[in-house]
Amino acid sequence: MAYTVPKLTDYSAAALEKAAGECVRACGEEAAAVRSEAELKAFRDRWLARKSGILTLINDLWLKGAPKEAKREAGIQVNALKARVTELVEAAHVGGGAASFAAESVDITLPGARRPMGAEHPVIKTRNEIVAVFQKLGYSVAEGPVVETDYYNFEALNFPPNHPARDTQDTLFIAGQQAKPQRERLLLRTHTSPVQIRTMEKLRPPIRIVIPGVVHRNDPPDASHSPMFNQIEGLAVDTNITFGDLKGTLDFAMKALFGSSVKTHFRPSFFPFTEPSAELYVTCFICGGSGKRGSDPCRPCKQTGWIEVLGCGMVDPNVFEFVKDNGYDPKRVSGFAFGMGTDRLALLKYGVDDLQLFFQGDVRFLEMFG
Ligand code: DAH
Repeated sequence: MAYTVPKLTDYSAAALEKAAGECVRACGEEAAAVRSEAELKAFRDRWLARKSGILTLINDLWLKGAPKEAKREAGIQVNALKARVTELVEAAHVGGGAASFAAESVDITLPGARRPMGAEHPVIKTRNEIVAVFQKLGYSVAEGPVVETDYYNFEALNFPPNHPARDTQDTLFIAGQQAKPQRERLLLRTHTSPVQIRTMEKLRPPIRIVIPGVVHRNDPPDASHSPMFNQIEGLAVDTNITFGDLKGTLDFAMKALFGSSVKTHFRPSFFPFTEPSAELYVTCFICGGSGKRGSDPCRPCKQTGWIEVLGCGMVDPNVFEFVKDNGYDPKRVSGFAFGMGTDRLALLKYGVDDLQLFFQGDVRFLEMFG
């Protein structure tokens, strides 16, 4: 039976209290029975509507209708009742009102919900380790844009327009740039080296910086290639920096990263922005330099006992010419630079045999590093 407001004949405190109690109970039961938004609205209107809602009716019947001597008591009771009913109506929601707390209660004896702990991605971890080694040597961290101009990615790094060295970079160009002068055309940076120039434009020598970042090349993805990968660049410029400084710094860094028994080996190479240029090899930390794993050939070093880890060299004076006005007169300063593939180093460090695993976001793979 739906609740209707009774007329009162007895206005004693006890009778008022009883009537109010019945009203609140009825309201609670109706709140608990609400099953849809439409029912919720009807329920609210039934109790709170200004014109003929139940509370208005109670006001009229119980308060206005009370004899003079009972008015005070009736006022107190009706006010308390109004507050309680309003509370119940406001707390009501689809699927049960405030009266259904019992149904929503929690069994605190059940085991809690476990949140899986996150872990640093192996590439980020490797990047942080490498950066930390150089920070201890006094290097700061610099960063630059991934969408870069031809000028910073190539020209100021001594790749003149149409120079064949540009072909080695498998560049992804941004479309619709033909109307601009070549040096302003946009592309996805193919290496972190452009940040060398950007930093030298901002900071006067001496500088020592490492530059972690994402780069892109038009390489189809396979076990050792990805169109997006990570590099860490390094640059030190001062007066009297020599190739000996380059060798000492990188030898120290490789020992810090791969263990003190690692040996380093430099082989001549070519990069337009360094002269002379070299590739740095370290003794294979899988086979220890023997080229063998037991009686099997060592795969990561292709049985040579050496693994190539980065490109490096002395900053080419032609590069300094582009930032000469900021204190980089090639007659006064010299420097060295290096660049390494963070993902490749992470592959080697963790013995992972497929680069794609780093970028697929498969939780089962990532959990192995947690
Ligand atoms: N930017 C080169 C590349 O991506 C790597 C590199 C080589 C960076 C020699 C350097 C360097 O700073 O001195 O192939």
